[in-house]
Amino acid sequence: MTQVNRVKRVQEYVNEKNLDGVLITSRENLFYFTSSSPILGGYLVITADDATFIVPQLEYEEAKGNSKVAVEKFSKRDDLYKRLGEMNLRTPGVEGGMRYSTLLNLKEKLGVEKFEVIDDVIKELRIVKDEEEIKRIEDACGIADDAMEVALESVREGVKEREVAAKMEYEMRMEGAEKPAFDTIIASGPRSALPHGVATDRVIERGDLVVIDEGALYGHYNSDMTRTVIVGSPSEKQLDVYEAVLEAQEKCVEAAKPGVKTKDLDSLARKILDEYGYEKNFIHSLGHGVGLEIHEWPGVSQFDETVLKPGMVITIEPGVYIPGFGGVRIEDTIVITEDGARRLTKTERRLV
Ligand code: CO
Repeated sequence: MTQVNRVKRVQEYVNEKNLDGVLITSRENLFYFTSSSPILGGYLVITADDATFIVPQLEYEEAKGNSKVAVEKFSKRDDLYKRLGEMNLRTPGVEGGMRYSTLLNLKEKLGVEKFEVIDDVIKELRIVKDEEEIKRIEDACGIADDAMEVALESVREGVKEREVAAKMEYEMRMEGAEKPAFDTIIASGPRSALPHGVATDRVIERGDLVVIDEGALYGHYNSDMTRTVIVGSPSEKQLDVYEAVLEAQEKCVEAAKPGVKTKDLDSLARKILDEYGYEKNFIHSLGHGVGLEIHEWPGVSQFDETVLKPGMVITIEPGVYIPGFGGVRIEDTIVITEDGARRLTKTERRLV
């Protein structure tokens, strides 16, 4: 869907909900609707029959070069409020994430009577990716695969977690990524029981489980992948946990297809882990949507009612965490196709 059609859908929504317009300020949504994402941002104002992207003067050239929506600039804040004031936004729609201080300011300066949160229409649009978006996510996943290859070569006894992360992030940049999608997780030994064990100065030891969770931001889109390795030869218990997680991950990817509820995938993972006796150690949801944000729609959890459709991009990432012992997680980013799902991250999964 082109930026113009995305804006059109918001204009329909403005009519349906009887709003005076909507104000969009998050960098992800600015990019989504205009194709421009200046550092300092700006205000995209979409009314029933118009769309204007108002940016600070210093961002004007960038915005004008990329934006599919007409761009205006302001030099002083007062000029911005004056311009917005001309648009008569008494009941504007805003993103749920808009800062409270910004809302208070707009209320005062523009005489806003009531704000409406418009996240439902943003979700409706962004939850299904078009071909161009899937292509970017797939490229971001390719970079994550290359970074994982570096990690698998670098993880060994005597190396610090942080050194592994640094090498991976260097690889991402060299492959064209803007930056890592999030702080790279290298969680070794007992730290592998922490689902979000961002890399530290811990020195990796023989016998450690090492959870490597990483992704790259490329062309404004994210990727997300996790692999777990064992330094040296695995114990029986380590192998058992690994088998459980691998089986859950593979069966859930096989089960993902249009018409399936994401919460049923989450239940399937819990059922498989329960057969191994580890269900209580699976302490997060099975996955999440991936796109302009690393965690976005749809949720892939017990509490989410989303029915999968072609073009949705999600992660499948079961994990087992045993305090004092360690943890295992295996994650791929996948895209839902017409009749199933396709893995976008492709690094070998059986690493133990
Ligand atoms: Co993830």
